[in-house]
Amino acid sequence: MEKMDVLIKRVVTQDQGTWVGLRRKLWSGSKKMHAAEVRDFSSKRNFICFIAWDEDKKAVGFSEASIRPFANGCKERPVPFLEGLWVDPRFRGRKIGKKLVGAVENWAIKRGFREIGSDALISNKVAHCAHTAYGFKETERVVYFRKSLIR
Ligand SMILES: CC(C)(COP(=O)(O)OP(=O)(O)OC[C@H]1O[C@@H](n2cnc3c(N)ncnc32)[C@H](O)[C@@H]1OP(=O)(O)O)[C@@H](O)C(=O)NCCC(=O)NCCS
Repeated sequence: MEKMDVLIKRVVTQDQGTWVGLRRKLWSGSKKMHAAEVRDFSSKRNFICFIAWDEDKKAVGFSEASIRPFANGCKERPVPFLEGLWVDPRFRGRKIGKKLVGAVENWAIKRGFREIGSDALISNKVAHCAHTAYGFKETERVVYFRKSLIR
């Protein structure tokens, strides 16, 4: 795999449009919804986003993390949690994901945290392999349920 230099930078206000675009590659939801979340998160101290920029200043991936009050499988409370990670399919397998997670880890370490949590869908085997490669250990598997209470 060809090596690729990327710059990992914490988002600033000017990046908000790019950030919304990146989120929409990973998650469903309207542009409006993501724009509102991004505006909200930008003002929060307990939230971080890093974007990976290529040499042409194109965004090729992002990572997001928050400080959660607690997280399944983690020992400490509160605890930093990797909320999102995405790399442009054209540039996968070049350690961009690893760098994006590393930036989140450094942010958490600077704040005095000693562990970080994360999750991935049970079916997302690539994400499981990536987490293992980044040093995460699987803790538990969960199935979410929902019941409508509208009667
Ligand atoms: C998961 C993801 C972020 C990994 O990004 P990446 O930049 O390709 O990852 P890296 O290059 O840092 O690879 C790290 C490790 O992941 C594993 N990995 C990456 N791609 C893989 C693949 N297609 N199959 C199996 N393992 C893979 C490897 O173990 C790799 O380590 P190695 O290169 O030392 O063998 C990327 O595949 C992605 O964006 N997927 C879609 C979104 C997603 O699933 N996000 C995670 C949600 S929890």
